[in-house]
Amino acid sequence: MCGIVGYIGPKEKKEIILDGLQELEYRGYDSAGMAVIEDHKLQNFKAVGKLVNLREKTKEYNSDGFGISIGHTRWATHGKPTELNAHPHLGKYSYVVHNGIIENYQELKQELSDEGFVFLSQTDTETIVHLFEKYHNSGLNSFDAFQKTIQRLEGAFAILLITEAQSDTIFFAKNGSPMLIGFDSNDVYFASSDTPIIGKAHEVCYLNDGEYGYARPGDVKLFDSNGSKEINKKPLVTNKAMAQKEGYRFFMEKEIYEQSTVVSDTMIGRASANGIKFEELSSLSLEGITSIKICACGTSYHAALASSYLFERLAKMRCSVEIASEFRYKEPLLDPDTLFITISQSGETADTLEALKMAKKAGLKSLTICNMDNSSIVRESDAAILTRAGIEKGVASTKAFATQMMVLWMLSLKFAKERGTISDEKFSEEITAMLQVPKSLIISDKLHGKITRLSKRYLHGHGFFYIGRDIFYPLALEGALKLKEISYLHAEGYPAGEMKHGPIALADAELFTIALMPQTSHYDKIKSNVEELSARDATILSISPLPFELADDFIQTDHATHPMLEFFEMMVVTQLLALEISIRLGNDVDMPRNLAKSVTVE
Ligand code: M6R
Repeated sequence: MCGIVGYIGPKEKKEIILDGLQELEYRGYDSAGMAVIEDHKLQNFKAVGKLVNLREKTKEYNSDGFGISIGHTRWATHGKPTELNAHPHLGKYSYVVHNGIIENYQELKQELSDEGFVFLSQTDTETIVHLFEKYHNSGLNSFDAFQKTIQRLEGAFAILLITEAQSDTIFFAKNGSPMLIGFDSNDVYFASSDTPIIGKAHEVCYLNDGEYGYARPGDVKLFDSNGSKEINKKPLVTNKAMAQKEGYRFFMEKEIYEQSTVVSDTMIGRASANGIKFEELSSLSLEGITSIKICACGTSYHAALASSYLFERLAKMRCSVEIASEFRYKEPLLDPDTLFITISQSGETADTLEALKMAKKAGLKSLTICNMDNSSIVRESDAAILTRAGIEKGVASTKAFATQMMVLWMLSLKFAKERGTISDEKFSEEITAMLQVPKSLIISDKLHGKITRLSKRYLHGHGFFYIGRDIFYPLALEGALKLKEISYLHAEGYPAGEMKHGPIALADAELFTIALMPQTSHYDKIKSNVEELSARDATILSISPLPFELADDFIQTDHATHPMLEFFEMMVVTQLLALEISIRLGNDVDMPRNLAKSVTVE
């Protein structure tokens, strides 16, 4: 996730770009940059770190004549957060900013390097500007060169490109990453979302995937694969707070809805019908590694626990999981044949970081699965896989968990393949299911509406038990944590088969049991466990593809062909249930009491 802003007109461009990027800083802030063409003169500024550094760098610069400008705030996917990797990326006479991932960039980079183009950065984005100049140098006009360029790109992108060869024009394209155009008489704006242009533009056109075109003062032309198109302008909303949440009531809600997209981003270039690939792991050899130990906290710990079933089942690797704060003081026995994995959304969790340092000291190879490039845990680890969830604002983690789970599933399959512990047939079944996950994460109005209605029955009572078996047990822990964090109601996650060993003593009508009952994983076993609870009068909310006659309430799920598809779908149901209960209780969903987004103290 990155943020993009563009402007064509006579106003002070530096301020429009900087103010716009400020609104988008939540999308990424490891570097920022802008490029302006005024009077045929091109100026470019970049700075590592937050936007304030770019402001400082440009404080002597003014740009108040007519001109064109593009800006970008970066959240690294390819290459470290350095000035060279910051956008805009430069060719000989053109600049580009990009949000998304160009999946075939390596192939394009090879082709361009063979033809003599010199790359300055490690990014996928730089291929775009060289490709454009290659076609322009071959004699095409700027628009045809741009059109030919985007036809070569695979993956997700929102792009703005400017060139000295046509210095009054911004070329734009959108496919899979957000982009809109704002209009105010002859002035034209571009942005990744509404907020940068509120109060500046009066009308807006939200671009659709596959659309591209060019803009000059008062003249915007739009195309798709069928040729030229009408521009569909709408009045622009004026409420900034609302616009940041893109119509959702809370950031957490928006983030739950984003899961389909960010999980798909996490898979780009890594999972395909041909198998699993992690470029990030090229320097991490598995030679001599026989087991895995994972350390994490909170939600990340739940992802770790769920993945231990996958590593053992698919890759046949012994996998132990520990809460980082416990691991630190237990005087753990560590063997160098163990791969030490940490999982962290923030990359700054103190306990996880210290656990990692201990493992390194004991000579273990380390890998982190993290959402924040350049964070302390990423810097400390031998290798890192980034989860590409984008900035998560809600304190209760949702989309970070979804992307962690996807990375861990991919990783267990990669290890399984390398170790020869999976048949070709099983491997392709897994990949087929995996490719369906983004679809299974799309939330229907019907499902959300049902959960909203149901939530009113779950505001009181003396406690919640979330129960599940196998990978659905860690999911039960995570469902209970979500509810606790934002509703302040007491909830516990439990392995369903363990209830009869004690907790069933609590069962009565005021004990709410949220039963995760997947069709593809031990259905009959969990059914018996729920029957035992129902016989003791517990109130049962069953989440399952199969209707369950003893359930007091029932939420029907759709995807019953693979346990992981059921896992992701049930994850969404538990997140929405916590959200709706919390909203009904009038709590601050995004900033629950007593919690912080990043826990950097012991
Ligand atoms: O940034 P991390 O993933 O290392 O954070 C770990 C926990 O603090 C975090 O998952 C916490 O439990 C969340 N609030 C869960 O929603």
